[in-house]
Order: sequence, then structure tokens, then C-alpha cells
Amino acid sequence: MLTLGIETSCDETAVALVDGGHLLGEKLATQVDVHALFGGVVPEIASREHLRILPRLFRELMVETGKSPSDIDRIAVARGPGLLGSLLVGVSFAKGLSLATGAPLIGVNHLWAHLLVAGLAEDLHFPALGLLVSGGHTHIYLVRSPVDFELLGRTLDDAAGEAFDKVAKVLNFPYPGGRFIDMLAQESVPDKKMFPRPYIDNPTLDFSYSGLKTAFALHAAAHPELVFAEMVDSDAMESLEGDRRKALAKVCSSFNWSVTETLRIKVERALLTVGPVKSLIVAGGVAANSMLRETMRRVAAKNRLELTLPELSLCTDNGAMIAYAGWLFSKAGYSHGLELEPIPRGRVVPLDWVFSGDNIEE
Ligand code: KG4
Ligand code: ZN
Repeated sequence: MLTLGIETSCDETAVALVDGGHLLGEKLATQVDVHALFGGVVPEIASREHLRILPRLFRELMVETGKSPSDIDRIAVARGPGLLGSLLVGVSFAKGLSLATGAPLIGVNHLWAHLLVAGLAEDLHFPALGLLVSGGHTHIYLVRSPVDFELLGRTLDDAAGEAFDKVAKVLNFPYPGGRFIDMLAQESVPDKKMFPRPYIDNPTLDFSYSGLKTAFALHAAAHPELVFAEMVDSDAMESLEGDRRKALAKVCSSFNWSVTETLRIKVERALLTVGPVKSLIVAGGVAANSMLRETMRRVAAKNRLELTLPELSLCTDNGAMIAYAGWLFSKAGYSHGLELEPIPRGRVVPLDWVFSGDNIEE
């Protein structure tokens, strides 16, 4: 079953083709440079860029894989949560293609796709505990199968990636700043007293990062020598030297540790409450973070769980995750009609798919 995946939920335009669960090809265009000027994603610009770029990426994907639109058996599209205007571009493109080719549509929950994408490279073991840490979400799920997710906990305010990016912005690092915090954090041991580990003294599996962000802003205000006068570029970050690099490494490592610890504590608490699971899946952009990857390796080993971490290129938004999840859902017998609605951030993605039997060819 040749499945096309279309991703336009935020500032990455991406398409991919998956055949029988294997990745045939993918194309991705990031808008990071466009939004970097504003220090964050500007929704109106993001939608227009998707509209401009998507047809070209699709054409290039067809040429590079030697396929034509009529070869496509399923059209999978990220239908949310995300920026509404951006999602509308991908969903409308998918509907047009579905009408033109007759291939059924399958709307994909972007968050589920993040957690499933590692299945492209290795077997996933269910039931699993899924930790999704991205720029927009911090969710813990019990994943019983590729089509059965139960949300156990989530952030009450900022997402983990958002906290990384906002803290980086305080320091005037380039946007998005998560990877620069990670880069510097690897050069220092954390000061475990520097920042609080927010929202751990409660029995829930929820998160909250706004207090940590404030604590960081206060720390930066008290240490103005840490803050760049204006936003620097990535070359300046790489070539940073001397005492300033050391001081920034310490502060980044300490912040990174506080975030990682809150995630570790809640994941371990979830493992105690959900009953036996076979694996721990960690995904989303922040799953690229070195300290988090190392910590989750330890958690999995201690609890004798398989650890599934997507390779770095599949952690951030991409088309392969949508194509692969769409293939899994289609294989399980699900599809959507042309009524498929995009779902903005903050709204629950409904389970409004149609089940039409599970004897579907792979
Ligand atoms: O999953 P993603 O591409 O986009 C959303 O769906 O939100 O995640 C992007 C987020 C950004 O906040 C970015 O700073 C963060 O992932 N990120 C990292 C690292 N690489 C990307 N955060 C910490 N350490 C990293 N190495
Ligand atoms: Zn994402």
C-alpha cells in the first residue's frame, strides 16, 4: 500500500512516501529562517509558505521516487493539533489529491505520528508508555496499539520545547534555541540547585514549565553578563569561547537537568501506575536532547523496558511520520471522508475515522 504523507502543522512543509511500512522517499522544507527574524513562528506567514512550497515538494517527491499520483493508494495528512491556517493548506491539498486520484484519505494525529515514527526503523512493542516532548506539547500516553492511545498527563502551560526556546530567547540565542542549550549543556555538569524542578510535588502526571521559565528569566536578569545584547546567529554560537562559554554551559546544563528531571519523575510515576508495559517510547523535537536521551536510557534499563527513540532526523516534524502513521491506521482498517476537519492546538483530536474492515493489503 503506497501511502503519501503530508505534514504542514507548524513551520515545516514535508511530504513522504511509505510503501508497505518502508520509507521510499521524503522531502522537507523548513521555514525556520523566515520565522527566526521574529523569534517565533508567525502563523500567517507559515500558512502562505506552506501554500507556496507544498506543490513543488510533492512534484519533486514523485520525480525522485519514480512514482506518479495515480500510483498512490492512501493519502495521509496531519490534521492536528497545529496552527489552523497551516493545517488547512495540507488538508486541502490532500482532499484535492484524493478527489483527483480516488485514493482514500486518512487524517493523522500529529502527536501520535511522533510516537509511532520509530517503527520505520525498529519493531514497536505494545503496550508502551509514550512520552511526547515537542515545541507545542508535553504528553504522556499509554499506547495500547498504534490506534489506541490514552492520554495520562500533559503540560498545564508551556510545553518542554517551548520552555527551551523561551529560555534561549532570554539569552538571545538563535531561534529555535533548544539545540543550542543542548550543545552547551553537554559541556558542563549541572548545578542542581540553580533552578527548581517544577510541579513534581503532586500525585499527577501533568507538567508545568512556566515557573521554571520565570526562575530562568530572574537568574538571567541577575547575571546580565550571560545575555547577548542582540540575537546571535548559529555560527556565533558554535564559535563562542572562554569564560562566557563556560558560564553559559553551566546555566544551560542546569536548566536542561531541571526539565529532564521533571520528565523522568513523571515517567517513573506513570510506570508505577499504568500496569505492565513492554516499552518506553520517547519522541518529538525535544527527544533529540542528549541529556533526555541518556536519562531515558537509564529509566528503561532500570525498569527492564525496551527503549524506543527515533533517530535524530525523525524527532522533529517530518513527512515520514505522517505517511507511516497513515499506513498503520489504513492497515488497521481506518479512513476519513472528504469532511475531514483540521484541529487547532488546544482542541482534542476526535476519533472520527471510519472503520471499514481490517483485511487491508500491506
Ligand atoms: O516536534 P517538533 O519539531 O515541533 C513541534 O511539533 O512542536 O519540536 C520542536 C522543538 C523546539 O522547541 C526545539 O527547540 C526542540 O524541539 N528541540 C530541542 C532539541 N532539538 C529540538 N530541545 C532540546 N534539545 C534539543 N537537542
Ligand atoms: Zn511536532
